[in-house]
Amino acid sequence: MAQLWGGRFEKETDELVYAFNASISFDKKLYKQDIAGSKVHARMLAKQGIITAEDEKAIQLGLDSILDDIEYGNIEITDEYEDIHSFVEANLTERIGEAGKKLHTGRSRNDQVALDMRMYTRDKVLETRGLIIQLLGTLDDLMEKHIETYMPGFTHLQKAQPVTLAHHLGAYFEMFKRDYQRLYDIFDRMNFCPLGAGALAGTTYPLDRKYTAKALGFYGPTLNSMDSVSDRDYLIEYLAAASTIMMHLSRFCEEIIIWNSNEYRYIEIDDAFSTGSSIMPQKKNPDIAELIRGKTGRVYGALMSLLTTMKGIPLAYNKDMQEDKELVFDAMDTVNGCLVLFNGMIKSIKFNKDIMAASAMNGFTNATDAADYLVGRGVPFRDAHGIIGRLVLYCIDKKCSLDELSLDELREISPKFDEGVYDAISLKTCVKRRLTMGAPGRRAMEEEILSCREFLKKAKEAENEINSFFNE
Ligand code: ARG
Repeated sequence: MAQLWGGRFEKETDELVYAFNASISFDKKLYKQDIAGSKVHARMLAKQGIITAEDEKAIQLGLDSILDDIEYGNIEITDEYEDIHSFVEANLTERIGEAGKKLHTGRSRNDQVALDMRMYTRDKVLETRGLIIQLLGTLDDLMEKHIETYMPGFTHLQKAQPVTLAHHLGAYFEMFKRDYQRLYDIFDRMNFCPLGAGALAGTTYPLDRKYTAKALGFYGPTLNSMDSVSDRDYLIEYLAAASTIMMHLSRFCEEIIIWNSNEYRYIEIDDAFSTGSSIMPQKKNPDIAELIRGKTGRVYGALMSLLTTMKGIPLAYNKDMQEDKELVFDAMDTVNGCLVLFNGMIKSIKFNKDIMAASAMNGFTNATDAADYLVGRGVPFRDAHGIIGRLVLYCIDKKCSLDELSLDELREISPKFDEGVYDAISLKTCVKRRLTMGAPGRRAMEEEILSCREFLKKAKEAENEINSFFNE
């Protein structure tokens, strides 16, 4: 057991208590951020004359060597330390002696962990943003290719009106676009540095908080020191955004599962993204889509869990907050992993265009257009609705589609029909004439794709800019 705080205790910590309290098994993920934060803190302490230049030099070399040893696998971060902060400090002191003991001057683990977690989350937010942009790129390519891939649009999972695959995918483009924007906003709000808030009330040393904030890539320091050590809003915001991404992925997966079913056969998921059955030789299952749909639950769970953890915590730091890490780490890995797999899966899907078009034909998706045709010939819409309704009933009985009826059969119900009806209710015409902004008709769709492209271009520029800022 290696702790930073033995002084005022007369007894050893109970072993169970030690294990219950320790966080190293999961906060070891933060080693890079912890070392980077410590290096900048030490540089600032020296600059402010709080520690000597020699001590600072020893600290810097010591911290660099710890980082190298971890990265090259020369040392292991073991459970013998309480948390990552204790591990780094103890290791440093072992390496450089007395100077190591000065690193924690004017700092508390409360502002330290707040800093580490923010830096870690900041990277993950950028990673998620990058993955969403890749997915938007895939959707954009597919939209371009499928402007004339007809399919039924559904409401209540009942065929409604004909649309195109490009139009259907465009709906998801909008959802993931909002997801990107949410993460963009979150980053802007969270990129402030809590280092220097101390345990809760700042310190008596003349720290330069603006300096450390800038050196660590933040827009500036956080303000109130009590809030600085106890704010976990940015994690809740991230989890809410991650939950929404998962909800979108899950809806899409649900459709992929339906489209891939034996009854629909709109698509075929690539072998590389499917699995078989141990007993039924004919099976090819959409497990990846199902797993992504399933994993949505654990991300929602993380959000609810952290909201609940935070709801009764008085100011300022309380140990409850240590519970943020495992949940958030798991949610980050889940959402980022799902985005990668989902992108790969939809890239390799084969769309059975003929089956999709036939499906749009045989479900009376052109019934509204048939009614509109009669309206064009002077029949009031309500009457036209009734006439087409009767024709649909007749077709159901005859097991055929509206355009398979002869002109005589049509005229028997309304004399207003003539030859032009067949073109008016063909799938192509039904889609082509839907030209309101955001509709599936070619011209409207091309404009939509153009503005998607414009968005993507700007988002990519923003990502390049922020990534080159952090990799400088
Ligand atoms: N492991 C702790 C956490 O994750 C670090 C902060 C500990 N601070 C304290 N006062 N015990 O929250």
